[in-house]
Amino acid sequence: MIMKKKMDSSPEDHLSSGRGEVRRIYLDHASTTPVDPVVEEAMKPFLSKSFGNASSLHSFGREAKQVLEKSRENIARKLGAIPEEIIFTSGGTESNNLALKGIAFANREKGKHIIISRIEHSCILNSCRWLEKEGFEVEHLNVDREGFIDLKELENSIRKDTILVSIIHGNNEIGTIQNLDGIGKICSDRGVYFHTDACQSFTKVPLNVKKQNLDLVTINSHKIYGPKGVGALFIRKGTRIEPWQHGGGHEFNLRSGTENIPGIVGFAKASEITGEREIQQMMKLRNRLVDGILDEIPDSWLNGPRENRLCNNANISFNRIDGNSLLHELDRKGISVSTASACSSHSREPSHVLRAIGLTPEEANGSIRITVGKENTTDEIDFSIESIKELVEKLRNNREE
Ligand SMILES: Cc1ncc(COP(=O)(O)O)c(C=O)c1O
Repeated sequence: MIMKKKMDSSPEDHLSSGRGEVRRIYLDHASTTPVDPVVEEAMKPFLSKSFGNASSLHSFGREAKQVLEKSRENIARKLGAIPEEIIFTSGGTESNNLALKGIAFANREKGKHIIISRIEHSCILNSCRWLEKEGFEVEHLNVDREGFIDLKELENSIRKDTILVSIIHGNNEIGTIQNLDGIGKICSDRGVYFHTDACQSFTKVPLNVKKQNLDLVTINSHKIYGPKGVGALFIRKGTRIEPWQHGGGHEFNLRSGTENIPGIVGFAKASEITGEREIQQMMKLRNRLVDGILDEIPDSWLNGPRENRLCNNANISFNRIDGNSLLHELDRKGISVSTASACSSHSREPSHVLRAIGLTPEEANGSIRITVGKENTTDEIDFSIESIKELVEKLRNNREE
Protein backbone atom coordinates (compact mmCIF):
# COMPACT_ATOMS: atom_id res chain seq x y z
CA MET A 1 0.00 0.00 0.00
CA ILE A 2 1.37 3.41 -0.88
CA MET A 3 0.33 6.20 1.40
CA LYS A 4 1.47 9.80 1.44
CA LYS A 5 2.53 11.55 4.58
CA LYS A 6 3.64 15.10 5.23
CA MET A 7 7.40 15.25 5.14
CA ASP A 8 8.93 14.93 8.55
CA SER A 9 12.24 13.52 7.42
CA SER A 10 15.20 15.36 5.99
CA PRO A 11 14.66 17.51 2.86
CA GLU A 12 17.32 15.58 0.99
CA ASP A 13 15.38 12.35 1.40
CA HIS A 14 15.32 11.18 -2.19
CA LEU A 15 11.77 9.93 -1.78
CA SER A 16 10.34 13.34 -1.18
CA SER A 17 8.40 14.74 -4.09
CA GLY A 18 8.30 18.40 -5.02
CA ARG A 19 5.11 18.63 -2.96
CA GLY A 20 6.98 17.66 0.22
CA GLU A 21 5.48 14.18 0.51
CA VAL A 22 7.12 10.84 1.20
CA ARG A 23 6.11 7.54 -0.29
CA ARG A 24 5.17 5.07 2.43
CA ILE A 25 5.16 1.32 1.89
CA TYR A 26 3.48 -0.80 4.50
CA LEU A 27 4.96 -4.30 4.77
CA ASP A 28 3.90 -5.26 8.29
CA HIS A 29 0.52 -6.91 7.77
CA ALA A 30 1.17 -9.56 10.42
CA SER A 31 1.10 -6.75 12.98
CA THR A 32 -2.10 -5.27 11.70
CA THR A 33 -3.92 -4.36 8.48
CA PRO A 34 -5.85 -1.30 7.35
CA VAL A 35 -9.63 -1.58 7.51
CA ASP A 36 -10.89 -2.49 4.05
CA PRO A 37 -13.28 0.14 2.60
CA VAL A 38 -15.97 -2.54 2.20
CA VAL A 39 -15.63 -3.35 5.91
CA GLU A 40 -15.73 0.30 6.86
CA GLU A 41 -18.96 0.78 4.88
CA ALA A 42 -20.55 -2.24 6.56
CA MET A 43 -19.69 -0.88 10.01
CA LYS A 44 -20.87 2.69 9.52
CA PRO A 45 -24.61 2.27 10.20
CA PHE A 46 -23.83 0.60 13.53
CA LEU A 47 -21.77 3.46 14.90
CA SER A 48 -24.46 6.13 15.12
CA LYS A 49 -27.74 5.27 13.44
CA SER A 50 -28.30 1.73 14.59
CA PHE A 51 -26.38 1.93 17.87
CA GLY A 52 -28.49 -0.26 20.16
CA ASN A 53 -27.29 -2.56 22.92
CA ALA A 54 -27.93 -6.15 21.85
CA SER A 55 -29.33 -6.95 25.31
CA SER A 56 -32.01 -4.24 25.20
CA LEU A 57 -35.57 -5.34 24.57
CA HIS A 58 -36.72 -2.38 22.43
CA SER A 59 -36.38 -2.05 18.66
CA PHE A 60 -32.85 -0.56 18.83
CA GLY A 61 -31.76 -3.52 20.91
CA ARG A 62 -33.50 -6.04 18.67
CA GLU A 63 -31.80 -4.56 15.62
CA ALA A 64 -28.41 -4.92 17.30
CA LYS A 65 -29.20 -8.47 18.41
CA GLN A 66 -30.23 -9.43 14.89
CA VAL A 67 -27.01 -8.21 13.31
CA LEU A 68 -24.98 -9.77 16.13
CA GLU A 69 -26.50 -13.18 15.44
CA LYS A 70 -26.09 -12.79 11.67
CA SER A 71 -22.39 -12.00 12.19
CA ARG A 72 -22.07 -15.02 14.48
CA GLU A 73 -23.55 -17.22 11.77
CA ASN A 74 -21.12 -15.88 9.18
CA ILE A 75 -18.06 -16.45 11.35
CA ALA A 76 -19.32 -19.92 12.35
CA ARG A 77 -19.72 -20.86 8.68
CA LYS A 78 -16.10 -19.92 7.95
CA LEU A 79 -14.97 -22.44 10.58
CA GLY A 80 -17.50 -25.19 9.87
CA ALA A 81 -19.00 -24.55 13.31
CA ILE A 82 -22.51 -23.78 14.56
CA PRO A 83 -23.35 -20.23 15.70
CA GLU A 84 -23.69 -21.09 19.42
CA GLU A 85 -20.07 -22.20 19.34
CA ILE A 86 -18.78 -18.69 18.56
CA ILE A 87 -18.02 -16.31 21.46
CA PHE A 88 -17.12 -12.75 20.54
CA THR A 89 -14.24 -11.19 22.49
CA SER A 90 -11.99 -8.14 22.35
CA GLY A 91 -9.38 -9.91 20.23
CA GLY A 92 -6.81 -12.66 19.99
CA THR A 93 -5.22 -11.99 23.37
CA GLU A 94 -8.51 -12.27 25.22
CA SER A 95 -9.60 -15.38 23.29
CA ASN A 96 -6.31 -17.11 24.06
CA ASN A 97 -6.57 -16.17 27.75
CA LEU A 98 -10.13 -17.49 27.92
CA ALA A 99 -9.19 -20.72 26.14
CA LEU A 100 -6.23 -21.54 28.36
CA LYS A 101 -7.42 -20.31 31.72
CA GLY A 102 -11.04 -21.32 31.11
CA ILE A 103 -10.10 -24.90 30.22
CA ALA A 104 -7.47 -25.16 32.95
CA PHE A 105 -9.80 -24.14 35.77
CA ALA A 106 -12.79 -26.13 34.55
CA ASN A 107 -10.79 -29.35 34.19
CA ARG A 108 -8.36 -29.24 37.10
CA GLU A 109 -10.04 -32.24 38.70
CA LYS A 110 -8.91 -34.30 35.70
CA GLY A 111 -5.36 -32.96 35.67
CA LYS A 112 -3.00 -30.02 35.57
CA HIS A 113 -0.83 -30.81 32.57
CA ILE A 114 -0.93 -28.52 29.53
CA ILE A 115 1.10 -28.87 26.32
CA ILE A 116 2.08 -25.96 24.08
CA SER A 117 4.91 -25.36 21.59
CA ARG A 118 8.03 -23.22 22.00
CA ILE A 119 6.87 -20.86 19.27
CA GLU A 120 3.56 -19.64 20.66
CA HIS A 121 2.52 -15.99 20.71
CA SER A 122 3.41 -14.10 23.89
CA CYS A 123 -0.21 -14.11 25.09
CA ILE A 124 -0.16 -17.92 25.18
CA LEU A 125 3.30 -18.07 26.76
CA ASN A 126 2.46 -15.51 29.42
CA SER A 127 -0.95 -17.04 30.21
CA CYS A 128 0.88 -20.32 30.72
CA ARG A 129 3.47 -18.67 32.97
CA TRP A 130 0.61 -17.38 35.09
CA LEU A 131 -1.05 -20.82 35.11
CA GLU A 132 2.21 -22.33 36.32
CA LYS A 133 2.07 -20.02 39.32
CA GLU A 134 -1.44 -21.34 39.94
CA GLY A 135 -0.10 -24.89 40.12
CA PHE A 136 -0.49 -26.08 36.52
CA GLU A 137 2.37 -27.81 34.70
CA VAL A 138 3.15 -26.59 31.21
CA GLU A 139 5.25 -28.60 28.78
CA HIS A 140 6.81 -26.86 25.75
CA LEU A 141 7.25 -28.94 22.59
CA ASN A 142 10.37 -28.41 20.51
CA VAL A 143 10.19 -27.44 16.86
CA ASP A 144 12.48 -28.35 13.99
CA ARG A 145 14.59 -25.98 11.86
CA GLU A 146 11.47 -24.87 9.96
CA GLY A 147 9.25 -24.48 13.01
CA PHE A 148 7.22 -27.69 12.87
CA ILE A 149 6.41 -29.69 15.99
CA ASP A 150 7.04 -33.42 15.92
CA LEU A 151 3.79 -35.40 16.13
CA LYS A 152 5.58 -38.33 17.76
CA GLU A 153 6.91 -36.03 20.49
CA LEU A 154 3.38 -34.69 20.99
CA GLU A 155 1.99 -38.20 21.27
CA ASN A 156 4.64 -39.18 23.80
CA SER A 157 4.06 -36.04 25.85
CA ILE A 158 0.36 -36.64 26.43
CA ARG A 159 -0.24 -38.10 29.90
CA LYS A 160 -3.24 -39.24 31.87
CA ASP A 161 -3.44 -35.83 33.53
CA THR A 162 -3.07 -33.80 30.31
CA ILE A 163 -6.07 -31.54 29.88
CA LEU A 164 -5.15 -29.32 26.94
CA VAL A 165 -2.90 -29.10 23.90
CA SER A 166 -2.55 -25.59 22.45
CA ILE A 167 -0.53 -25.18 19.26
CA ILE A 168 -0.38 -22.07 17.10
CA HIS A 169 -1.68 -22.63 13.55
CA GLY A 170 0.22 -20.11 11.39
CA ASN A 171 3.23 -18.74 13.20
CA ASN A 172 3.26 -14.95 13.43
CA GLU A 173 7.03 -14.62 13.00
CA ILE A 174 8.15 -17.30 10.56
CA GLY A 175 4.85 -18.29 8.94
CA THR A 176 5.05 -22.03 9.63
CA ILE A 177 1.63 -23.69 9.25
CA GLN A 178 1.30 -26.63 11.61
CA ASN A 179 -0.39 -29.88 10.65
CA LEU A 180 -3.68 -29.36 12.49
CA ASP A 181 -5.20 -32.55 11.03
CA GLY A 182 -2.43 -34.64 12.58
CA ILE A 183 -2.48 -32.86 15.94
CA GLY A 184 -6.28 -32.94 16.10
CA LYS A 185 -6.37 -36.68 15.43
CA ILE A 186 -3.91 -37.39 18.24
CA CYS A 187 -5.77 -35.17 20.73
CA SER A 188 -9.12 -36.63 19.83
CA ASP A 189 -7.85 -40.24 20.11
CA ARG A 190 -6.38 -39.42 23.52
CA GLY A 191 -9.39 -37.46 24.80
CA VAL A 192 -7.49 -34.19 25.31
CA TYR A 193 -8.85 -30.76 24.43
CA PHE A 194 -7.16 -29.16 21.41
CA HIS A 195 -6.91 -25.39 21.01
CA THR A 196 -5.23 -23.49 18.19
CA ASP A 197 -4.34 -19.82 17.89
CA ALA A 198 -5.36 -19.10 14.30
CA CYS A 199 -5.00 -15.30 14.34
CA GLN A 200 -2.51 -15.29 11.48
CA SER A 201 -4.02 -18.07 9.41
CA PHE A 202 -7.75 -17.28 9.57
CA THR A 203 -9.05 -16.71 5.99
CA LYS A 204 -5.61 -17.54 4.56
CA VAL A 205 -5.63 -21.26 5.33
CA PRO A 206 -8.82 -23.35 5.38
CA LEU A 207 -10.00 -24.29 8.86
CA ASN A 208 -12.65 -26.85 9.64
CA VAL A 209 -13.27 -27.55 13.30
CA LYS A 210 -14.97 -30.88 12.65
CA LYS A 211 -12.49 -32.33 10.18
CA GLN A 212 -9.54 -31.10 12.21
CA ASN A 213 -10.96 -32.19 15.57
CA LEU A 214 -10.58 -28.71 17.02
CA ASP A 215 -12.20 -27.95 20.37
CA LEU A 216 -11.19 -24.30 20.60
CA VAL A 217 -9.99 -21.82 17.96
CA THR A 218 -8.82 -18.23 18.48
CA ILE A 219 -9.33 -15.73 15.66
CA ASN A 220 -9.25 -11.96 15.42
CA SER A 221 -10.27 -9.18 13.09
CA HIS A 222 -7.41 -6.71 12.71
CA LYS A 223 -5.15 -9.15 10.85
CA ILE A 224 -7.75 -9.58 8.10
CA TYR A 225 -8.64 -6.00 7.16
CA GLY A 226 -11.19 -5.68 9.95
CA PRO A 227 -11.22 -3.28 12.91
CA LYS A 228 -9.00 -3.64 15.98
CA GLY A 229 -10.33 -4.74 19.36
CA VAL A 230 -12.54 -7.60 18.24
CA GLY A 231 -12.03 -11.33 17.96
CA ALA A 232 -13.73 -14.62 18.70
CA LEU A 233 -13.21 -17.95 20.33
CA PHE A 234 -14.76 -21.06 18.86
CA ILE A 235 -15.69 -23.43 21.69
CA ARG A 236 -17.00 -26.82 20.67
CA LYS A 237 -20.44 -27.53 22.12
CA GLY A 238 -20.11 -29.56 25.32
CA THR A 239 -16.59 -28.35 26.17
CA ARG A 240 -16.00 -27.89 29.90
CA ILE A 241 -14.85 -24.30 30.25
CA GLU A 242 -15.07 -21.61 32.95
CA PRO A 243 -15.84 -18.02 31.99
CA TRP A 244 -12.99 -15.66 32.66
CA GLN A 245 -14.80 -12.35 32.61
CA HIS A 246 -17.88 -12.14 34.82
CA GLY A 247 -20.83 -9.78 34.54
CA GLY A 248 -24.23 -9.78 32.90
CA GLY A 249 -23.88 -13.20 31.28
CA HIS A 250 -23.41 -12.13 27.66
CA GLU A 251 -22.12 -14.53 25.00
CA PHE A 252 -23.76 -17.64 26.45
CA ASN A 253 -22.47 -16.78 29.93
CA LEU A 254 -18.92 -17.18 28.71
CA ARG A 255 -17.86 -13.58 28.15
CA SER A 256 -19.75 -10.82 29.86
CA GLY A 257 -19.71 -7.27 28.55
CA THR A 258 -21.83 -5.35 26.03
CA GLU A 259 -21.01 -6.66 22.57
CA ASN A 260 -19.01 -4.39 20.25
CA ILE A 261 -21.57 -4.43 17.45
CA PRO A 262 -19.78 -2.22 14.87
CA GLY A 263 -16.58 -4.18 15.48
CA ILE A 264 -18.32 -7.54 15.21
CA VAL A 265 -20.09 -6.51 11.99
CA GLY A 266 -16.75 -5.38 10.58
CA PHE A 267 -15.08 -8.62 11.67
CA ALA A 268 -17.76 -10.75 10.00
CA LYS A 269 -17.51 -8.70 6.80
CA ALA A 270 -13.70 -8.93 6.84
CA SER A 271 -13.91 -12.71 7.13
CA GLU A 272 -15.66 -12.81 3.75
CA ILE A 273 -13.33 -10.69 1.65
CA THR A 274 -10.16 -12.74 1.44
CA GLY A 275 -10.42 -15.48 -1.14
CA GLU A 276 -8.15 -17.54 -3.37
CA ARG A 277 -7.40 -14.54 -5.61
CA GLU A 278 -6.06 -12.44 -2.73
CA ILE A 279 -4.11 -15.39 -1.33
CA GLN A 280 -2.41 -16.01 -4.70
CA GLN A 281 -1.70 -12.32 -5.08
CA MET A 282 -0.01 -12.12 -1.66
CA MET A 283 1.96 -15.30 -2.33
CA LYS A 284 3.23 -13.96 -5.65
CA LEU A 285 4.41 -10.72 -4.05
CA ARG A 286 5.98 -12.55 -1.12
CA ASN A 287 7.85 -14.96 -3.41
CA ARG A 288 9.11 -12.10 -5.55
CA LEU A 289 10.35 -10.35 -2.42
CA VAL A 290 12.08 -13.41 -0.97
CA ASP A 291 13.71 -14.44 -4.26
CA GLY A 292 14.78 -10.86 -4.93
CA ILE A 293 16.41 -10.45 -1.53
CA LEU A 294 18.12 -13.83 -1.47
CA ASP A 295 19.42 -13.39 -5.04
CA GLU A 296 20.69 -9.87 -4.46
CA ILE A 297 22.10 -10.02 -0.95
CA PRO A 298 24.89 -12.41 0.02
CA ASP A 299 24.84 -14.06 3.46
CA SER A 300 21.07 -13.84 3.80
CA TRP A 301 18.57 -16.65 4.31
CA LEU A 302 14.87 -17.32 4.76
CA ASN A 303 13.69 -18.49 8.20
CA GLY A 304 10.78 -20.92 8.23
CA PRO A 305 9.64 -23.32 5.52
CA ARG A 306 9.09 -22.81 1.79
CA GLU A 307 6.04 -25.07 1.78
CA ASN A 308 3.26 -24.94 4.37
CA ARG A 309 3.94 -21.29 5.02
CA LEU A 310 1.54 -18.36 5.43
CA CYS A 311 1.07 -16.73 2.01
CA ASN A 312 2.13 -13.27 3.18
CA ASN A 313 5.07 -13.99 5.47
CA ALA A 314 8.80 -13.58 4.86
CA ASN A 315 11.36 -13.69 7.65
CA ILE A 316 14.93 -13.09 6.58
CA SER A 317 18.25 -13.11 8.42
CA PHE A 318 21.31 -11.17 7.29
CA ASN A 319 24.75 -12.00 8.65
CA ARG A 320 26.55 -9.06 10.29
CA ILE A 321 23.40 -6.95 10.52
CA ASP A 322 21.40 -5.66 13.45
CA GLY A 323 17.73 -6.14 12.49
CA ASN A 324 16.57 -3.12 14.52
CA SER A 325 19.05 -0.81 12.74
CA LEU A 326 17.81 -2.11 9.39
CA LEU A 327 14.20 -1.59 10.47
CA HIS A 328 14.90 2.04 11.42
CA GLU A 329 16.84 2.75 8.21
CA LEU A 330 13.97 1.30 6.16
CA ASP A 331 11.50 3.35 8.15
CA ARG A 332 13.43 6.50 7.21
CA LYS A 333 12.82 5.54 3.60
CA GLY A 334 9.11 5.09 4.30
CA ILE A 335 9.18 1.27 4.34
CA SER A 336 7.56 -0.37 7.38
CA VAL A 337 8.72 -3.85 8.40
CA SER A 338 9.27 -5.42 11.81
CA THR A 339 11.68 -7.49 13.82
CA ALA A 340 10.03 -10.42 15.62
CA SER A 341 6.34 -9.78 16.39
CA ALA A 342 4.72 -6.41 17.07
CA CYS A 343 3.88 -7.49 20.63
CA SER A 344 7.51 -8.14 21.53
CA SER A 345 9.07 -5.42 19.40
CA HIS A 346 10.10 -3.37 22.44
CA SER A 347 11.91 -6.31 23.96
CA ARG A 348 15.66 -6.42 23.38
CA GLU A 349 15.74 -10.18 23.84
CA PRO A 350 16.33 -12.18 20.65
CA SER A 351 13.09 -13.66 19.29
CA HIS A 352 12.10 -16.86 21.15
CA VAL A 353 10.76 -18.24 17.86
CA LEU A 354 14.04 -17.76 15.99
CA ARG A 355 15.96 -19.18 18.93
CA ALA A 356 13.62 -22.20 18.97
CA ILE A 357 14.41 -22.99 15.31
CA GLY A 358 18.11 -22.98 16.14
CA LEU A 359 19.38 -19.48 15.35
CA THR A 360 22.10 -18.02 17.57
CA PRO A 361 21.17 -14.81 19.46
CA GLU A 362 23.22 -12.83 16.94
CA GLU A 363 21.51 -14.45 13.95
CA ALA A 364 18.10 -13.91 15.52
CA ASN A 365 18.89 -10.24 16.07
CA GLY A 366 19.95 -9.95 12.44
CA SER A 367 16.47 -10.77 11.14
CA ILE A 368 13.50 -8.83 9.89
CA ARG A 369 9.92 -9.91 9.27
CA ILE A 370 8.26 -8.61 6.12
CA THR A 371 4.57 -9.35 5.69
CA VAL A 372 2.84 -8.29 2.50
CA GLY A 373 -0.82 -7.42 2.03
CA LYS A 374 -3.27 -7.71 -0.81
CA GLU A 375 -2.89 -4.03 -1.67
CA ASN A 376 0.90 -4.05 -2.12
CA THR A 377 2.21 -3.72 -5.68
CA THR A 378 5.15 -5.27 -7.55
CA ASP A 379 6.61 -1.80 -7.83
CA GLU A 380 6.62 -1.48 -4.03
CA ILE A 381 8.21 -4.90 -3.68
CA ASP A 382 10.96 -4.09 -6.20
CA PHE A 383 11.66 -0.78 -4.54
CA SER A 384 11.84 -2.53 -1.16
CA ILE A 385 14.29 -5.15 -2.45
CA GLU A 386 16.54 -2.39 -3.81
CA SER A 387 16.32 -0.43 -0.56
CA ILE A 388 17.08 -3.45 1.62
CA LYS A 389 20.07 -4.30 -0.56
CA GLU A 390 21.43 -0.77 -0.34
CA LEU A 391 20.90 -0.52 3.43
CA VAL A 392 22.33 -3.94 4.24
CA GLU A 393 25.48 -2.98 2.30
CA LYS A 394 25.65 0.35 4.11
CA LEU A 395 25.19 -1.19 7.56
CA ARG A 396 27.75 -3.90 6.86
CA ASN A 397 30.26 -1.33 5.63
CA ASN A 398 29.71 0.85 8.71
CA ARG A 399 30.33 -2.17 10.89
CA GLU A 400 33.59 -2.99 9.20
CA GLU A 401 34.94 0.57 9.40
C1 LIG B 1 -0.68 -15.41 16.56
C2 LIG B 1 -1.28 -14.28 17.33
N1 LIG B 1 -2.00 -14.53 18.43
C3 LIG B 1 -2.56 -13.56 19.15
C4 LIG B 1 -2.42 -12.24 18.80
C5 LIG B 1 -3.05 -11.18 19.65
O1 LIG B 1 -4.20 -10.69 19.04
P1 LIG B 1 -4.84 -9.27 19.44
O2 LIG B 1 -3.90 -8.23 18.93
O3 LIG B 1 -6.16 -9.27 18.71
O4 LIG B 1 -5.02 -9.26 20.91
C6 LIG B 1 -1.68 -11.92 17.65
C7 LIG B 1 -1.48 -10.52 17.24
O5 LIG B 1 -0.42 -9.96 17.35
C8 LIG B 1 -1.08 -12.96 16.91
O6 LIG B 1 -0.34 -12.73 15.82
